[in-house]
Amino acid sequence: MLSKKQAKIFFLGGTILFMLIFIGMSVHSLMVGIPKNTNDSEINDQVKLGKQLWDKNNCMGCHTIMGEGAYYAPELTRVYTRRGEAYIQAVLTAPEGWGFRGRKMVKYDFTEEEVAGLMAFLKWMDKTDLNGFPPEPSLPAPLQ
Ligand code: HEC
Repeated sequence: MLSKKQAKIFFLGGTILFMLIFIGMSVHSLMVGIPKNTNDSEINDQVKLGKQLWDKNNCMGCHTIMGEGAYYAPELTRVYTRRGEAYIQAVLTAPEGWGFRGRKMVKYDFTEEEVAGLMAFLKWMDKTDLNGFPPEPSLPAPLQ
């Protein structure tokens, strides 16, 4: 059984120790974790232009990115790896609204510079570290 004094020291010692651990972890997240995960050294003017176009044209009205947005059209966090540059270029410059599986995308009249910006944004997004998001789908094995 702890005496009153020992209990006080135990309480204060524990509080201070875990407060220091919490502060240390927060500083580590801000100084090391977030810059590494967000790949922020690669955010250049082109990426910023792409992000502005992303917001202005309401891409999230149909798509999700980092899981945020609407569920009408495909998740785009890893689209750069999944589809590659040529495919995305074709989507963004399609003369008709892109879509041959039933659902259609809006037709945009992006300039070359704007397409390059959106491409840079999607490429940067592709390299962010989201701790495994989006997960690989666990599809059942095909029937033999
Ligand atoms: C009106 C809804 C809508 C809006 C708004 C929209 N899209 Fe799409 N997008 C779609 C649909 C639907 C598809 C899938 C069409 C298909 O594959 O048949 C698609 C496909 C794509 C693809 C290919 C994805 C893949 O995995 O095949 C990319 C890249 C893309 N869109 C980027 C964008 C960008 C960038 C914007 C904003 C500038 C945008 N989209 C706005 C509906 C939309």
